[in-house]
Amino acid sequence: MSNRTAYSNIFWDRLPKTHYVDNQIFCSQEVFDIEQRTIFSKVWKFVCCESEVAQINDFRTTTVAGIPLLIVRGPDLMIRALVNSCSHRGVKLVEETAGNARKFECLFHRWTYDVRGKCIDIPREEAYECVKIDKAQCGLKQVRCEIMRGLVFVNLDDNASPLEEYLAGCLSVYDDVFDGADLEVFHFHEQVLNTDWKHWQETNMELYHEFLHVLNRKTSMIDPGYFERKWHAFPNGHMTVDPLIIQYEKMQGSVSREDFTLPGLKSNEFRLLDIFPDVMLNCRASVLRIDTQIPLAPGKTLIQFRGLGIKGEPEEMRHRRIRDHAEFWGPFGRNLPEDGLAAERQTETMGKASKYSLMAREENRLTQDDFPIREFYREWERHTGLCAAFAVEEKQE
Ligand code: FES
Ligand SMILES: [Fe+2]
Repeated sequence: MSNRTAYSNIFWDRLPKTHYVDNQIFCSQEVFDIEQRTIFSKVWKFVCCESEVAQINDFRTTTVAGIPLLIVRGPDLMIRALVNSCSHRGVKLVEETAGNARKFECLFHRWTYDVRGKCIDIPREEAYECVKIDKAQCGLKQVRCEIMRGLVFVNLDDNASPLEEYLAGCLSVYDDVFDGADLEVFHFHEQVLNTDWKHWQETNMELYHEFLHVLNRKTSMIDPGYFERKWHAFPNGHMTVDPLIIQYEKMQGSVSREDFTLPGLKSNEFRLLDIFPDVMLNCRASVLRIDTQIPLAPGKTLIQFRGLGIKGEPEEMRHRRIRDHAEFWGPFGRNLPEDGLAAERQTETMGKASKYSLMAREENRLTQDDFPIREFYREWERHTGLCAAFAVEEKQE
């Protein structure tokens, strides 16, 4: 018996290879390493919002393709991305997720750097004179960092094309929202999930899974127009679906969010944009939610969740926005934890009881077509050089 027919009664052999994936891509260390090398080291990676490093000397830390980074605003107001590793013997300089500091002092031998990454102190530096090393050569490596619409992206590849080219106009989905007000992050939380980063991105793309959510079944899927929305692809794997008006009034205890709807949106309007490889911008009337991911290992991912509202809004409005966000997309909200539960249960069977995953729904690119995830894997293949349907051992049968 062919391995390709094992574990399930679906006739995998008869499907186009674009319509399923080999679940080894979710648990193979080899695939993980290839992704880190060919995707996360090469594409523009969203790391934070400008508003999170609003003041001079504000910093945040993150990791891209295993490289720890410091995102820091200098006295010249520029935001820079610096490698968060001491030039002396590599110690990670800053452990905190975020803060404000005039300089970064390494705990090991006390080499010290300013917020532009310049090395400003080496204790007993004269001992390096014999090998002609001085402070000027010992700064932190800077990596490329560009900002669009208040979103900060970095790229580890010095030869990559500019961010604007990479995004290929996809942020236009939110032009009216960004034009209407300055937004700022009012909510941040992160969670390690026992799931592969691609599973989370799939969940943020394929809308067939909305059957998972009681809330969505009651307030979105009852609308006859729900199933008629169309998916649209931008170059480089970015994806959006037509907006929807959610019927929150069908929900018990629903409150009006009319007076704190984000600018440019109709009342109770929902929009979605997925940016390859790992970002989602999801707008639900009162909040712009941004997910981004830090793959830790096969089947293990740190997911960061942000909620954005209007900068400088009155305290009372902010309070209502926070409550509204928490009710749906907070860590104990009505929607978000269900996605985590499904993604972790899925991961338990990957490559064991479940050998392949199906993405064969065809509905003329309408709402629950698997078109967006098929497109995602085409982009993934373009970068990795792998075939998602025959990931590792079974390249040709
Ligand atoms: S490793 Fe940082 S000062 Fe030595
Ligand atoms: Fe979901």
